[in-house]
Amino acid sequence: MSPGARAALVTGAGRGLGRALAAALAGAGWEVTATLRGAGPVPGAARVLRHDQGDPASAEAVGAAMAGRRLDLVILNAAIRGDTGGLAGFSQEDFLQVMAVNVAGPLLLMRALLPCLAPGAKVAFISSRAGSMAEGADPDGDYAYCASKAALNRAVVKLADDHPRLTLLALHPGWVRTDMGGAGAELTAEDSARGLLTMIGRAGPGDSGRFLTWEGAPVAW
Ligand SMILES: NC(=O)c1ccc[n+]([C@@H]2O[C@H](COP(=O)([O-])OP(=O)(O)OC[C@H]3O[C@@H](n4cnc5c(N)ncnc54)[C@H](OP(=O)(O)O)[C@@H]3O)[C@@H](O)[C@H]2O)c1
Repeated sequence: MSPGARAALVTGAGRGLGRALAAALAGAGWEVTATLRGAGPVPGAARVLRHDQGDPASAEAVGAAMAGRRLDLVILNAAIRGDTGGLAGFSQEDFLQVMAVNVAGPLLLMRALLPCLAPGAKVAFISSRAGSMAEGADPDGDYAYCASKAALNRAVVKLADDHPRLTLLALHPGWVRTDMGGAGAELTAEDSARGLLTMIGRAGPGDSGRFLTWEGAPVAW
């Protein structure tokens, strides 16, 4: 990370990858704002704010709580899976909930935090290779999740077009041993977080709008 980049906000920091990202940033000396749906604490965090990514008012409340503060990095990590039962299990209600949490939620929070983002700030959207048309083969039948990450990726490209003074990234964290990734996953949350933070640290304005893995490899859209 650059020496001047010191203040970060991480969503979904109560468990899984978000918790590991917040801990790694705090361990590296960053002032970390952790957001959670439930109760804290988050080890190393300077402050913990409540944020339900499915509730637009919650994004506004986080923006209000951060008013006057500067952020050098925002990591929009929180997400949910949908029904994994394929078309047979597909429902409009589940689909809309996944889209609300995984797509609208990060966009609304980024909007609420825009006044905190100085030129050159970075916003990392934790996406998934499952949202890639070219590489996202996924046998488990979760239409909502795949579609939500594809939609998020498209939004990141549009945000990069619309906000040329920020660096916007869509990042695939690998297959990570969390509640979402399961016990058989390849990577610990700590290893994924370390890779993602290295990647984010290296990324510059020329990378805005890119879709990259935790190891820095481009993901085909
Ligand atoms: N694990 C993998 O293998 C993998 C692979 C590709 C991409 N990803 C992506 O990596 C990110 C982190 O995943 P993970 O593996 O850490 O998942 P996880 O273990 O299921 O944790 C999900 C996190 O999101 C939060 N969250 C869920 N719904 C929320 C809401 N409505 N409002 C606020 N927070 C909410 C959870 O908070 P609560 O404790 O309140 O539920 C939790 O902190 C996600 O974007 C996921 O799509 C993961």
